[in-house]
Amino acid sequence: MSLPPGPTYPSVVSLVHFAQRPLPWFDELAAKYGDPFTVKFPGMGDYVIASAPELIKQIFNGDPDVLHAGKANALLRPIVGQHSVLLLDGAPHLRQRRLLSPPLRGDRMAAYASLIAEITGATLDRMPVGKPFALHEHMQAITLEVILRAVFGLAEGARMSELRELLVAMLEPPPAIMAFVPVQYLDFPLSPYRVFLRRRAAVDRALRDVVRARQAEPERIGTDILSLLLGVRDEHDQPMTEDELCDELVTMLVAGHETTATALSWAFACILEYPEVGARLAAELDGARGPTGAIDPASVAGLEYLDAVVKETLRLRPIIPDVVRQLQRPMAFAGYDLPAGVNLTPCIHLAHRRPETYPEPTRFRPERFLGAKIDPYTWLPFGGGIRRCLGMAFALYEMKIVLAVMVSRARLDLAVPGRVREIRRTITIAPRGGTRVVLRQRSTS
Ligand code: HEM
Repeated sequence: MSLPPGPTYPSVVSLVHFAQRPLPWFDELAAKYGDPFTVKFPGMGDYVIASAPELIKQIFNGDPDVLHAGKANALLRPIVGQHSVLLLDGAPHLRQRRLLSPPLRGDRMAAYASLIAEITGATLDRMPVGKPFALHEHMQAITLEVILRAVFGLAEGARMSELRELLVAMLEPPPAIMAFVPVQYLDFPLSPYRVFLRRRAAVDRALRDVVRARQAEPERIGTDILSLLLGVRDEHDQPMTEDELCDELVTMLVAGHETTATALSWAFACILEYPEVGARLAAELDGARGPTGAIDPASVAGLEYLDAVVKETLRLRPIIPDVVRQLQRPMAFAGYDLPAGVNLTPCIHLAHRRPETYPEPTRFRPERFLGAKIDPYTWLPFGGGIRRCLGMAFALYEMKIVLAVMVSRARLDLAVPGRVREIRRTITIAPRGGTRVVLRQRSTS
């Protein structure tokens, strides 16, 4: 058994680097030790970090009975619940994925175009003009509203307000530490972890009410994702249980809300840093205006430059820097015999910055994606293989509509010109300060 080289300092030092400055740390380790390299985290074992396309391909296409992602995600259990697809492996994972996939497929997204455009327009109307503010909070408001309405199928009213408040409370920091420290060390009276558990239980109760109310009124079944999930059946003709439905709703919220909001905040940070990109995008959007002068949401999916801007944002600023597969058996990899228990880790950040794949990798240049076919082993912001993000089509679509409405109606500048730096927020890598901008002008269409 052998492991690739890596730092020899105490594993707790690695954890501090990973929690505080993951991207420069990955860059330094790749420069020093090559590809792959090994890092150790206290109580969590060895992580073999890889970024070359042929290594990533081997991991993503490997035997799912050997490469478990659910086990590697175990720290998320208190948040997403034990039935979440994120925590499952093997046959139970495949069953849950099959049930969840149809409502989230790309061809279903058009149903949400007008809704997302309307929510974005209303949010833009609330942004202050002429003074600096963090765009991120507004992007969070949009993505939360989209989940409440398009995923949970709620309409404005008391139930939606109650659930919105409970969800915002549940998602509030601190659980940052829960991303890195096993919960048994955090579980004591009055601890922030216990506060979180109470909030999580309140969300669960409210979601059960939503699910039961919908089941009691089959005539209210709509185009939202919960409605579609109520209708799905597995190979034994069984529907999803209430426990499964509730945990998957929280999973979609946790996996889809902050990630999409962060990706949008990065998109603006990049577009505003490169005015020539903003100008080209605005020109393309002008061609997508309907008879009233407003953007026609239905035509947005076909805009090539917008598509390239979204892909380049997720390349240069991936929201999640790495994904993990835990080896259930020994495996030969890159000339090493890795023992069972090792965490094989495709590094999204490093894969996206290889100059062999992406010349001038630190430059934001959407043109590199124009007319290009996506290679799943060099562009992997949504992970890959049988664990690839189930919300990918949804997130890409939502990003395009939000960007189209905002760029066509608002004149924004960065509050401080130049490159926006990154900061870790629990498991995501977000723009520092939440992309502070000044809204100079807002048009009605
Ligand atoms: C820009 C936004 C998003 C990013 C960057 C993102 C990224 C990711 C990544 C990296 C993974 C892990 C994949 C792997 O292990 O290979 C993942 C999994 C997942 N994501 Fe997303 N995600 C986003 C939005 C969404 C949305 C909107 C939803 C739901 C509506 C969603 C639902 C899920 C689910 C259910 C999984 C678990 C899949 C499985 O374990 O089989 N995500 N996502």
